[in-house]
Amino acid sequence: MAASATATADFKRPPIERRDISFELSEDIPRHWHGGDPFITTYFNGLSIMFPEGEQFFIDSVRHYRDQITDPELKEQIRGFIGQEAMHSREHLRYNELLDQQGYPANRLHEKLKGILKFVRRRTSPKQQLAATCALEHFTAILADVALRDRRVYAGVHPVFRDLWRWHAIEETEHKAVAYDVYQSLFPGFMGYLTRIRAMIRVTILFMWRSGSHHVALLRADGQLWNLRGWARAFHWFWVRPGMYRQILPTYFAYYRPGYHPWDHDNSDLVDYWKKTLERKGYGTLHQHEEADTAA
Ligand SMILES: [Fe+2]
Ligand SMILES: [Fe+2]
Repeated sequence: MAASATATADFKRPPIERRDISFELSEDIPRHWHGGDPFITTYFNGLSIMFPEGEQFFIDSVRHYRDQITDPELKEQIRGFIGQEAMHSREHLRYNELLDQQGYPANRLHEKLKGILKFVRRRTSPKQQLAATCALEHFTAILADVALRDRRVYAGVHPVFRDLWRWHAIEETEHKAVAYDVYQSLFPGFMGYLTRIRAMIRVTILFMWRSGSHHVALLRADGQLWNLRGWARAFHWFWVRPGMYRQILPTYFAYYRPGYHPWDHDNSDLVDYWKKTLERKGYGTLHQHEEADTAA
């Protein structure tokens, strides 16, 4: 039962800081803020719609086991994790309100996901929910890794959205191992591994289904659904250049290894770099997750 998973990596992990940042999300921002491209913009908008409910699910699934964790370091990391996800939820709700104002069906898609997750909560055990959180945290961490590493991902993006997505990517990297360490400390061994892998397969299907449906619904609202040239351009962007999805394939499959740990892939240098950049831009005081839990 001892939570020893924090000792897995022998380098200094970045601290998990809760940053209470409010982004200037106004209607002046161009509708297609990703370089004027409706396809890539609506893809990211579709992800944003997934976050508030998704992140609440992550928080609840980790919080369920918090009292069983004895390692003070991991307990502290849980506080940071909850604080960060609560801030993400808040900002993505504001982001999604802007989408509704722009005529996208953001609220309808949000409510639909809420219903799906309600069903998942009813039908699965806390252990399975924690395993699903680990899998989804892996998704956000590997996407964040490419987004922070390859500048082409946010090339031509409106500055407010670029900063918002980078802020989210930094924090997803900082806390990428928290749910995983909680899970490993409580469910080590072969049966724990089986549940973790089964959850990853289900989550991959759910993630592709929901992100795909969001993308289609938002493109339909834009009248772009049958723009085949646009689809071809988007395919090129996602799979060839910069090839965000091509780039995550090796890190995605690493999760299936029995001895896998999120910090096997040490990308703390990216956190250091982008954190300084955000601070230089005046995204201010970085709060060390005080009152993190009450904000959730
Ligand atoms: Fe998040
Ligand atoms: Fe996260």
